[in-house]
Amino acid sequence: KHVAVLMGGFSSERPVSLSSGKACAGALEAEGFDVTCIDVARDVSEKLAALKPDVVFNALHGPFGEDGTIQGILEYLEIPYTHSGVLASALAMDKDKAKLVAAAAGIPVAESQVINRFAFPSTHPMKPPYVVKPVREGSSFGVVIVTEDQAHPPQVVSSPEWHYGEAVLVERYVYGRELTCGVMGETALGVTEVVPQGHNFYDYDSKYAAGGSKHVIPAKISPNIYQKIQTLALRAHQAIGCRGVSRSDFRYDDRFSEDGEIIWLEVNTQPGMTPTSLVPEMAGHAGYSFGEFLRWMVEDASC
Ligand code: DAL
Ligand code: MG
Repeated sequence: KHVAVLMGGFSSERPVSLSSGKACAGALEAEGFDVTCIDVARDVSEKLAALKPDVVFNALHGPFGEDGTIQGILEYLEIPYTHSGVLASALAMDKDKAKLVAAAAGIPVAESQVINRFAFPSTHPMKPPYVVKPVREGSSFGVVIVTEDQAHPPQVVSSPEWHYGEAVLVERYVYGRELTCGVMGETALGVTEVVPQGHNFYDYDSKYAAGGSKHVIPAKISPNIYQKIQTLALRAHQAIGCRGVSRSDFRYDDRFSEDGEIIWLEVNTQPGMTPTSLVPEMAGHAGYSFGEFLRWMVEDASC
């Protein structure tokens, strides 16, 4: 099969996507696929129409690559592609709308509100601690944690340096351990606990710098919580209408009891495929080599 790997793109996550794409292209070639890499530029649709690959392996992240835009182009070109379709991609990319759908499916989410960054109030929009996040971003770009001792809301949101869109999500800060769970088709993969090393949360550097975080898979949590996380990840995948592979991120607060509080944060329809990424590791835990995992994704896209 001829597989075109889309990577790069226009989002803040461009370097992450180049790393995901390079890793996937190498492993797909080793699996025997005929691979063409496309660093996505505005002329992507002409390139694809001329190339006519059997499958597009989408290794893009963030706006344009993960939000239904490229998926729409691929639908129009009638080229099968990996990961979620137009609707699920668009929904999952919008953290606010995704939470509405997840909550309607009985998935626990943290209280939040959306504020236009130009209308960001000079007093706290909610009692700290809270988190300010761009509504449409990934890889923790633009995430600001506002702690109890901060007298004022963060200025950066309304400053000219902010280039993560006008809509920002203000969400209750959820204490707890970072757990994440991949889904592959109809099956939840293992649950990983992410322990950032020397960072106060799983920020950009702890995601992509070697040694920036420790991944514990299977996470050391009770079998009951482990299963709950898997069930919620699968439910989110289905409620949003994802296809192929996705990854849901959670917080689990076990300070007061082992039952604790589980909060679903988001689903990633184009989870990272870089050498430090979580989902390839979860697939490995389930017995798939990286190549076998990607082969599954290519086959799944083409059937
Ligand atoms: N947004 C990054 C790539 C992830 O979810 O893994
Ligand atoms: Mg994300």
